Amino acid sequence: MMWLLVLTAALMLTFILTGRRRSKREPPLDKGLIPWLGHALEFGKDASKFINRMKQKHGNIFTVRAAGRYVTLLLDPHSYDAVINDSKSLDFSRYAQVLMERIFDLQLPHNLPDKAKEMMKRHFLGVNLSTLNSTMSRHLQAVLKAETPQNQRDWKEEGLFDLCYRLLFKAGYMSLFGGEKNNNSTDPSSVYEEYKKFDGLLTKMARGTLKAEEKKESKSLQGRLWELLAQAGLTEDCGSSPWLHTYRRLLEDDGVNEETQRKAVLMQLWATQGNVGPAAFWLLSYLLTNPEALKAVQKEFGQMTQTAFRTLSTDRPVSTPVFDSALEETMRLTAAPFITREVVQDKILCMADGQEYLLRKGDRLCLFPFISPQMDPEIYHEPQKFKYDRFLNEDGSVKKDFYKGGKKLKYYTMPWGAGTNGCVGKSFAISTIRQFVYMLLTNYSLELCDPNAQLPEINASRYGFGMLQPEGDLPVRYRQKNTH
Ligand SMILES: *[C@@H]1O[C@H](CO)[C@@H](O)[C@H](O)[C@H]1NC(C)=O
Ligand SMILES: *[C@@H]1O[C@H](CO)[C@@H](O)[C@H](O)[C@H]1NC(C)=O
Ligand SMILES: *[C@@H]1O[C@H](CO)[C@@H](O)[C@H](O)[C@H]1NC(C)=O
Ligand SMILES: *[C@@H]1O[C@H](CO)[C@@H](O)[C@H](O)[C@H]1NC(C)=O
Ligand SMILES: *[C@@H]1O[C@H](CO)[C@@H](O)[C@H](O)[C@H]1NC(C)=O
Ligand SMILES: *[C@@H]1O[C@H](CO)[C@@H](O)[C@H](O)[C@H]1NC(C)=O
Ligand SMILES: *[C@@H]1O[C@H](CO)[C@@H](O)[C@H](O)[C@H]1NC(C)=O
Repeated sequence: MMWLLVLTAALMLTFILTGRRRSKREPPLDKGLIPWLGHALEFGKDASKFINRMKQKHGNIFTVRAAGRYVTLLLDPHSYDAVINDSKSLDFSRYAQVLMERIFDLQLPHNLPDKAKEMMKRHFLGVNLSTLNSTMSRHLQAVLKAETPQNQRDWKEEGLFDLCYRLLFKAGYMSLFGGEKNNNSTDPSSVYEEYKKFDGLLTKMARGTLKAEEKKESKSLQGRLWELLAQAGLTEDCGSSPWLHTYRRLLEDDGVNEETQRKAVLMQLWATQGNVGPAAFWLLSYLLTNPEALKAVQKEFGQMTQTAFRTLSTDRPVSTPVFDSALEETMRLTAAPFITREVVQDKILCMADGQEYLLRKGDRLCLFPFISPQMDPEIYHEPQKFKYDRFLNEDGSVKKDFYKGGKKLKYYTMPWGAGTNGCVGKSFAISTIRQFVYMLLTNYSLELCDPNAQLPEINASRYGFGMLQPEGDLPVRYRQKNTH
C-alpha cells in the first residue's frame, strides 16, 4: 500500500507545483483542496451557498476550479453590461452547445440556433402572440375543467407544485406541440409523465454526474420522448403550432436528419415548458401564504370584467400592475439561472468601480444575478421576504428605480437573462401565468389544506438552471366555484 501513498503524494505535489498560478492582473483564484475536482462537489450541492461563501472571502469577482475547469464568477450588477455587451471575447454559443450535447445528445449546425431564434421572434411577438395567447387560454380552460371533480361540492386535494407543473405543461404542450389531432399515444399526460422524470435527471446530465443506473434511465427516457414527439410539427395539419412546423422546416432545410430533429424538438419542449409551471407554483404559494397579497391581486382581478379578461388573452394589452409586481417579486426570489460565457480570447474586464481584471482564454465566466442584484440586502430590504408590492410606487405605478452604492441599477432582477440572449418567450410566459392564476382565483376556490402551512424548502441542487423547484410540495385543495 505504501507505494500507492507515495504515488498519490507525488501526484498531488505535481498538481500543486505545476497547477495554475494567479497572475496579479487576474481575479483572486481559489482552487480548493482536491486536485482537478476543486470545488465541484460543493458547487453542485448548493451553488448559491458556495458562491456566497466565496463572495465573503474574495469579493465580487473571483475564479474557482471545478472539475478541471476554471470558472470566474462576477457578482457586481453594475458590471454586468461589460459582459453582456462583449459577444466577441465572451461567447455564448459554445457553452450552450456543451449543454445541448450533454442533456439532449444534440448537435446542430453552427448557425442554426441563431436562425431559430430569429424565427421564434416572429412567432412569439407581435400579432402572432395574440393568437398564441388565445390558443393557450382555450387549452388552459379545458385542462382545468377536465381535472376538477364534476360535482362542484367535492374538493380535490393535491400538491400545488404537481398541479401547476402538470396543468401548465399539458396546456403548453397542446398549444405548441399539438396533442389534439395526434392519437398515436401522444396524449399530453403520457408525455408529461416521461418529461417529468427526465426533468428530474436534468441537472445531473448537465453536470455529467449521472450514476450508471441513472444514465441508463436517462437514455431510455430520451428514447421514449423522441418517440412521443416524432410527429410533432412534422406536417402543417398535425395540430402543432405554426412555430413548431416552421422550426421543423428550418431543420429540414439545413439538412438535419429525422432523428436529430426529434432531439431538437425535445430540447424545445424543455425550453418552453421547464420554467412556466414552477414559476406559477411559487407565485401561487406566496399568495396563499400571504393573505394581504392574495387580497390585493384578487381585488385587481375583480375590477376587470370578463370582457377585460378576454382582451387579456387576445389583443389589447391590459394593465395589471399589482399582479405584475407580485410576479416580479416571485421571480426575484426563485429565478436563479447562471448567465455563462466562454472566454474565447484574453480580455480585460473593466468593472464599474474602475478595477480591471484579466480574463484568461479558455476559462468560463459566469454571472449569478440571484445573489446580486436579486437577493442583495443593499438593494432589497429584507431580501428573503416576499413583498408583493416591492415593484410598485406609492401611486400604484411600476417601480423601476433600485440602487446599489448610490447608483441606479440597469439590471435589478434578471430572471429572463439579458441582451441578445434574453428570453424570446417572455411575454407569452407572463401572459400564460397571468391567465392561469386568473382562472384559478376567479373560477375556482383554492386553499391550503393546512392554513398554517409554510412554503417548502428550495431544492438546492437546481441553482443555476432557471426557475428553482421545491423540495417536497405544498398540499392544497380546489374545486369549481358556484358561478350562478
Ligand atoms: C452596452 O450596450 C448598451 C446598449 O447597446 C449600452 O447602453 C451600454 O452603455 C453598454 N455598456 C457597456 C458597459 O459597454
Ligand atoms: C406570423 O406567423 C406567420 C406564420 O404562421 C408568419 O408567416 C408571419 O410572418 C408572422 N407574422 C409576423 C408579424 O412576424
Ligand atoms: C386517429 O385515429 C383515427 C381513428 O382511429 C384515424 O382515422 C386517424 O387517422 C388517426 N390519426 C392519426 C394522426 O393517427
Ligand atoms: C406511432 O408512432 C411511431 C413513431 O412514429 C410508430 O413507430 C408507430 O408505429 C406508431 N403507432 C401507431 C399505432 O400508429
Ligand atoms: C432535487 O432535485 C434533483 C434534481 O432535479 C432531484 O434529483 C432530487 O430528487 C430533488 N430532491 C428532492 C428532495 O425533491
Ligand atoms: C399576450 O400576452 C402578453 C402578456 O400578457 C401581452 O403583453 C400581450 O399584449 C398579449 N396579447 C398580444 C397581442 O400580444
Ligand atoms: C369561468 O367559468 C364560466 C362558466 O363555466 C366560463 O364561462 C368562463 O369562461 C370561465 N372563466 C374563466 C376565466 O375560466
